[in-house]
Amino acid sequence: MSQQEQVPPVDTAAGPGGTDPVLDEAAAARAAGPVTAAVTTLGVRGEEREDFSKAESKRLRRRSLALLGSLAAPLKARLVLLGVVVVVSTAGTVAGPALIAWGIDNALPAVMDEDDWVPAFGVVATYIVVAVLGAVLTAWYTVLAARISQAILFDLRKRVFLHTQRLSLEFHETYTSGRIISRQTSDLDSIRELLDSGLNQLIQGVLYMVFTGIALVLLDPTSGLVLAVSLVPLWFLIRWFQTNSQTLFRATRVTSARVIVHFVETMTGIRAVQAFRKESRNRDEYGRYVEDYRVANTKVFNLFGTFDPVLVLIGNATLAAVVIVGGFRIVGGSLEVGALLAVALYAKRFFDPAQELAMFYNGYQSASAAMEKISGVLEERPSVPDPAKPVRLPEATGAVDFDDVEFAYNADKVVLPEFDLHVPAGQTIALVGSTGAGKSTLAKLMARFYDPTKGSVRLDGIDLREIDPKDMRRAIVMVTQEAYLFSGSVADNIALGKPGATRDEIVRAAEAVGAHAFIEALPDGYDTDVNKRGGRVSAGQRQLLSFARAFIADPKVLILDEATASLDIPSERLVQEGLETLLADRTAVIIAHRLSTVAIAHRVLVMEYGRIVEDGTPDDLIAGTGRFAQLHAAWRDSLV
Ligand SMILES: Nc1ncnc2c1ncn2[C@@H]1O[C@H](COP(=O)(O)OP(=O)(O)O)[C@@H](O)[C@H]1O
Ligand SMILES: [Mg+2]
Repeated sequence: MSQQEQVPPVDTAAGPGGTDPVLDEAAAARAAGPVTAAVTTLGVRGEEREDFSKAESKRLRRRSLALLGSLAAPLKARLVLLGVVVVVSTAGTVAGPALIAWGIDNALPAVMDEDDWVPAFGVVATYIVVAVLGAVLTAWYTVLAARISQAILFDLRKRVFLHTQRLSLEFHETYTSGRIISRQTSDLDSIRELLDSGLNQLIQGVLYMVFTGIALVLLDPTSGLVLAVSLVPLWFLIRWFQTNSQTLFRATRVTSARVIVHFVETMTGIRAVQAFRKESRNRDEYGRYVEDYRVANTKVFNLFGTFDPVLVLIGNATLAAVVIVGGFRIVGGSLEVGALLAVALYAKRFFDPAQELAMFYNGYQSASAAMEKISGVLEERPSVPDPAKPVRLPEATGAVDFDDVEFAYNADKVVLPEFDLHVPAGQTIALVGSTGAGKSTLAKLMARFYDPTKGSVRLDGIDLREIDPKDMRRAIVMVTQEAYLFSGSVADNIALGKPGATRDEIVRAAEAVGAHAFIEALPDGYDTDVNKRGGRVSAGQRQLLSFARAFIADPKVLILDEATASLDIPSERLVQEGLETLLADRTAVIIAHRLSTVAIAHRVLVMEYGRIVEDGTPDDLIAGTGRFAQLHAAWRDSLV
């Protein structure tokens, strides 16, 4: 089912002639890391997996690290600069208390005893310079870090979009839109959060703690020892927090994903939801998910309710200990007042980043889970890969051959048993048969939405798998019942079939398929926005537009899969006339239930259980006693 199991990553990694940056970078990332077999993050029924083995988790981690590496590689220079800036700015911030201590213990006595103001001015000036420099560098660091994280996110967003878009139909039929939306929204968001604040604060926090510790030890080793003792309860507190929060944060992620998926599925299927009065069931279900999400979040906050006070307690106890120990030593004469003040300031500030440190772990957890899922999507290879050495075919004649073709969507059921079919250029074929007979499947093979499991499909004698995808898409066009309109004007939607088409060409295409009259009647004619009020067109009109789109594309092979199904009889009459123009001079396959549509075909194929059971001219088949003759008789009777 999963692509990775069928296709070895090595040969699919090669993009079309190495021109695809997304695939090339993925290949580079793979070559860089010792990533071997692929791991899918989807379970058997397409749901998100949680049950990874040790080896699998390791591979997932390596895969996301490789992805992160490939994202960071172009930013190397900026990252080095960032490192320098953060080290200098943190050192500047930490220098403050030491300067104060020096001022009190050395500069102040100089003023009082010898009336010498130079050291005092010197220390104040240094303090101001260091403080300003620290502030400026911190600001610079923040901007730099934000630029880097935005660059990474920009790259990642684009990669995910471009990659999901180029994945084959097979992927999109199993990977629900809710899940794809989660990849682009909540997953990218948790990575953004980590990059924007978490990582930033972690680097600053850790550096801050290290520098503060060093300053403290240099200034007064005894106080350093007191601080070192306080690290023991701090470590236990952070460990406790991390272990407990891991489960809780995972729960918030899982529950929030469920909320999103349920929302998206309800809204994309809103027609069915309303038609079948599923609202109340959905409301209960959604209510449960939202409630789960609320409970999960509450638990996280409760955890902080314990963590925060204990952290403050440890900090204050350490401060008290430092001051008490220092106080005794001042009395004993082994410590000066200024040094004690600095030591106290350091001890107090030392704990400031501890909460971020504890939090970072969670941000990291959710971002790395997101990264694993995203890298999983990026690792999916199209099940209909682009040819390694594309054969150009700019001028196809339109002859299509199926040679020893067998097809199965998945291993357990062959949908089309081995068959041959030869369609000479220019022939119009009607494909009829009951629902589930395999008509659409045959059509999808012909348009290369899928590759055959065995045998080959050829256009002008060349295997579809070898033809340059651009030439193939130009030569073969399939129109289905779901005529999709993109946002934009009616003219834009027709021109989709031929980018850069002139208004004349667009109008001619619309006239040819009988769409001109209704388009003219729209508020702004061809410039009517299809998403605006008044631009809304009926299903049948949408279908006419998709015919115009196909007409203007002028393919050599045209496949209509129940494309006339939502037309009413008058529109169908209109199309009927247009259809003959549409089908002239090209190879055509029409899948239709109305025999009137079938009548214009040169040849009829009747399918049953994946096999072509009848093949002949309409007249011959009607004269016989087969399935088509029965269908035709039934159709004639229904007219009387
Ligand atoms: N994406 C798919 N995955 C698995 N099986 C499928 C898929 N699409 C269709 N099938 C199966 O293939 C068979 C033929 O379907 P189809 O070609 O759509 O029939 P028709 O268009 O003649 O109604 C059916 O049994 C159907 O269940
Ligand atoms: Mg079908």
